[in-house]
Order: sequence, then structure tokens, then C-alpha cells
Amino acid sequence: MDITVAKTAGFCFGVARAVDSAYQCSENKDKKYCTLGPIIHNTQVVNDLKEKGIDVIHSLVERPEDAIVIIRTHGVPEALYREMEEQGIEYLDLTCPFVKKIHNLVSKHYKEGYQIIIIGDKNHPEVAGINGWCENSAIIIEDLDQAEALLPIEKKVCIVAQTTFNQNIYKKIIFFLKKTCQNHTIFDTICSATEERQAESRELAQTVDVMLVLGGQNSSNTQKLYQICKSVCPEAYCAESIDALGSLSPFQNKKVGITAGASTPAVIIKEAINKMENQEKDFATLLEESLKAIHTGDVVTGTVIEVGPTEVIVDLGVKQDGIIPASEISDDPNLTPEDIVKVGDEIQGFVVRVNDVEGKITLSKKKLDSYKTWDAIVKASEEGTILEGKVDGVVNGGVIVTYKSFRVFVPASLANDRYLSDLNELVGKVVPFKIIDINERRRRIVGNIKTVLTAQKQELEGAFWAEAEVGKKYTGIVKSLTSFGVFVDIGGVDGLVHISELSWSRIKHPSDVVSVGDSIEVYIKDINEETKKISLGYKNPAENPWEIAKAKLNAGDVVKVKIVRMLPFGAFAEILPTVDGLIHISQIANKRIEKPQDELSIGQEVDAKIVDIDWENKKIALSIRALLPEPEVAPVEEAAEAAEDAEPTSYTEEVSSTIGDAVGVETTEE
Ligand code: F3S
Repeated sequence: MDITVAKTAGFCFGVARAVDSAYQCSENKDKKYCTLGPIIHNTQVVNDLKEKGIDVIHSLVERPEDAIVIIRTHGVPEALYREMEEQGIEYLDLTCPFVKKIHNLVSKHYKEGYQIIIIGDKNHPEVAGINGWCENSAIIIEDLDQAEALLPIEKKVCIVAQTTFNQNIYKKIIFFLKKTCQNHTIFDTICSATEERQAESRELAQTVDVMLVLGGQNSSNTQKLYQICKSVCPEAYCAESIDALGSLSPFQNKKVGITAGASTPAVIIKEAINKMENQEKDFATLLEESLKAIHTGDVVTGTVIEVGPTEVIVDLGVKQDGIIPASEISDDPNLTPEDIVKVGDEIQGFVVRVNDVEGKITLSKKKLDSYKTWDAIVKASEEGTILEGKVDGVVNGGVIVTYKSFRVFVPASLANDRYLSDLNELVGKVVPFKIIDINERRRRIVGNIKTVLTAQKQELEGAFWAEAEVGKKYTGIVKSLTSFGVFVDIGGVDGLVHISELSWSRIKHPSDVVSVGDSIEVYIKDINEETKKISLGYKNPAENPWEIAKAKLNAGDVVKVKIVRMLPFGAFAEILPTVDGLIHISQIANKRIEKPQDELSIGQEVDAKIVDIDWENKKIALSIRALLPEPEVAPVEEAAEAAEDAEPTSYTEEVSSTIGDAVGVETTEE
């Protein structure tokens, strides 16, 4: 047998919402509920709810004492709300939002002076409810004859329709009303769910041998559906359930189509499919399936058969399917069902509710995961296992660490292995912790981060000292900066890189070279095992500018230099980056000058001859004069000049030791 079920068959959005809410109410044993009129046109659902304690009343006087009144999808007149409020009657409004919208349109336009026209069945409770929002003053048009018979209306008119009204007849009625009512405002309030169901059923009926329409005899939308199907598929049947049909023989070896009215529970559809299919199953299979009863609180395993944006459907191997609402799949609100599961996956769920009437079992993966996590937490607490969680906030006296879906409180004194003046520093960080206290009944957990961090640090220190030796290289993280250097974490132990070790050139502060958090390559220069102090090297010897200069410069070379600093006794000039030489004042020109600025300026580039190099003391003497022709000078003047050069009157401490070397004249070092 080839069976096709219309996708739109069964509960529409409004009915599903109302029936679901009513069943949830039936689980609340602290309160009493009743429905004002049957919740839907289906005796099975109505009787099932009655068994679960929800009676049907037909007026407020029948209301059991203290019962909350459930208003069904059709909605009620405005006056009824007022009546319930005046009498202090609590109610749960399950009017379909699409019907509610019509109430609002009618109420607004009526107050603005419009004549309301409702296209619909005047005996239908939805139409009666709508009429109640314009003080029952609406003109109700049920068919074409009434539309044709309507006399012209001068007043401005507001036209709405019953949500389940036939779209074709509606269009014809509107055609007449537009002529009769010149000043009209029309709202097409026919619900698209009805239209879509009718269109799909018509299409399906055209492609099958037999069509089965499931739904109540008093459900107008089911009857309309049957008429539509019958018009294109002569062998069409309409019944409240497959059992009500009596025989299954019309479907044997046929291509069968199934559709159902808006108030037909899924279980009725599923039952029809099962009965048609089970004709071919053996007794043992049927018995096995019937034995698989599922109850609230069970943990079940099934196979994912459908994944949608709002729910996942799971085949549990029983007559009902398992439904996992999107909100019950994961704790992470950013994930959709499609991100977590796919069709064919095996999945486990905790049974939250079994609803035989609707033919569905509501499952929660989230709840099951939560139970599993709790078990893991209890085990970790007993075994002292280290867990990892994210610090999500600071609370009075400590921080909250989230471990999966559970909150773990960590007192401030146990939140770190060092004192923190502001615990907010930890927020957002993933931290290791151990559980030190757990209250299973209240589900309260207390953790300790400090003990884990301290143990980890000790372990790292032990490993470090076992292998540390001078010259060993490390990749470290800069922990802090001071005026004299930087402290670097080289694996659980901090070492100091002195400021002089940070750069080959002169720097004012370590921050000129590194920042906190930088990863840098260092090596051990010195270790003091007793004090546990480690001195680290950072500069690369291969980049030593004086070593580079050694390979490039020789005494007697003529080099292009840049004047970088001037003092009374001479000018310093850069030969190579960070390698400067001194041009003594007597070597700047081939004549006597008062000061270096008479001939030179900062930044000026000049040719100079290397007259002497002292590699050990890093001193290079330069001369411009050596490249100039010597002027003829009177002997007495030369002697006086030489005497002056030999006896400088004052030097700064910085340069006093270099001048003599630079010019080959003996000087006094201070
Ligand atoms: Fe509402 Fe449309 Fe159903 S109006 S009750 S969703 S048919």
C-alpha cells in the first residue's frame, strides 16, 4: 500500500497552541481549569482532557468553584471579558492570535463609526465572538444570495471574514459588497492555514486512487476539505477515525492519500496509517510494539527522522513519535537544532510528557544532559577530579564559575593562587577547579581554584629546577615591567631580564622594547639555586653592533658619518647604527676653531678618516682634518695651538675617557 499524508493535515498553529496549553494546565494539580465550550471539535481530545480534570462548561454559571476559565481558539465577545473581570474570575486566553487580530480591527473601526460586515457563518462561535466586539451590530453575510440582497450602505463600512471561510465564495461576496458599499475598508482575514490545507488536499486527491479525510462530522473545515477532495477524487471517504470507517478494504493495494481537519489530533492520523500498514505485519511484531510502553521520566533512545528550526522528531520504535522542542536540545541559545543533530543520528532523551491523544512524546535532551552532568559533578567531587569552567561573574564573596549548565561558587579567598584586588580580572577566563562542597538536594556546588593553581605551579617549578642550567633557552611570557628590567615567566618560574640586556642600543625604559604578555626568546645567564633567582639574557650576540663593526671597519678607512652630538671638545658621529666615533675639535678643520658648531651641525653627513680603533673599550677616533690639506702656520702659533689641545680645561665625565684615545693625546681619566 502506498500512503501519502498531506503535510498540512491535522492541528493548525492556533489549535496546536491551545491543545498544548490545555494539556499543560491538566498537569497542574494545584489549580482547577475548565474550558468555555469544547477546546476543539474532537471528542477524543475533549474526553481525554475531561479525564485529566478539565471539564467543558457552556456558560460562566456552570463554572466549578475557583476554576480558571480557558478561552478556546474561536475567541469570545468583549462583554464576556468584562463579566469575568467584574466577577473576579481568573481566565486563560487561548484565542488564536489571528482571531484576536480581527477582534482588534472590528473594535477599532466600530469606535470610529464604521458599519461592520462579517463574512461567515452566523452560528459559528468565532463569528459570534467577533460580533461581540462591535456590540453585536455587525451585518453577517453567509453566502452570495445574502451579498446580492444587501441594500446599498452610505455609511463607511469595515469588512472582515471568518478565518476558515471558503476563499472562492469570499472573493465573489467581496465583488458584490464593493458595489453596494462605496465607502469600504476590506480586511482579508481568512487564515492561510485553511487555504493551504485545502490547496494541498486538492492536489493530493488528484494523484491518488483513494482519499481519506479525517475529522469530526461537526467540524466545518473538515467537511469543506471532504467536499474539495471528493470533487477531484470520486473514491473519497470522511471519518472521525479509521475505526469509525469500519472496513479497511477500500485501501488495500491502492495508492492512498490522507488529509485531516484543523482539529484532528496527530494520533488519529498516525493510527490510520498504522492500521493500514499493520495489515501486513505479523502478530509477533505487533505484540512487541504494544509492549514498548513509554512513561514520563523514562530515558529513551531513538533515531532522528526530522530536523526543523523549532523541533526535532525522533522515531522511538513505538506508535508515537518523540518531539524535542528546540529549547530542550541545548543550553546554548546560539545553536539551532540543525547545528546539533542530523537525520539518522541516534539520540537519547528524557521523557517530559506522554500525550497519547496528540500522539506525541515530548523529550528533553537538555534535561538528560543536565542529569548526566550532575552525575559527573558528584563523581568528580568524590574523586577530587579537576574540572574546567568559565568565570561568568563576580558575586558577593566570590566568583561564579559555569561548568556546563551548572553554577559553581568559588569564595574570593580560593579564586586564585595570588591576591587579586579586583576579582573582575577573572571574568571570562577558563579556570581549573576542584569541588570542595556539594549539596545534592539544593544542587549547590562550591569550588576551589587556588588549590589547583598552586599544585600546578609547584609541579612546574619542580620540573623547571630539575632541568635548569646556564645557557638553556626558553620561550617566556613577559609578566611585568620595572624601571630596571622585566620579569619573564619561563614555565612556572619567573626570571629577570635586566634593562641593559634588552637592547644593544641605549633605551630609556623596558617598555621601549617589550610589553606585558609578549612572548620572547630568552636564555639563562645566571642561576642562584639558593635564592632561586634567575638572571636571563635576551640580546642576540650575533646582532652586537660592535662585532658587526669589527668586520667592516679598519683604522685608515675613510667613512661617511653623520654628526649626532656635539660637545665643547668635539663631535660624535654615527659610523654604523649604534656605533659612534669622536671627532676631536682639533680634527674637525685644518684651522683653529672655537667650537664644533663653527664647522658642523647635527645631522650633517661628512667624510672622515678612522684614525684609531680601540675595540676593547669600544672607542673610535675620527678625523676630518686628516682629509684636508694642512695650511701653513707660523711655528710659534702651532706651538700655542698644540699646547691648548694638550691641556683641555674641562671635560664631562661621559667623554673624558675617550678624548685622549681619540686624538692620541694623553688625558686624565676621572
Ligand atoms: Fe488560528 Fe487559522 Fe487555526 S485562525 S485557529 S491558525 S485555522
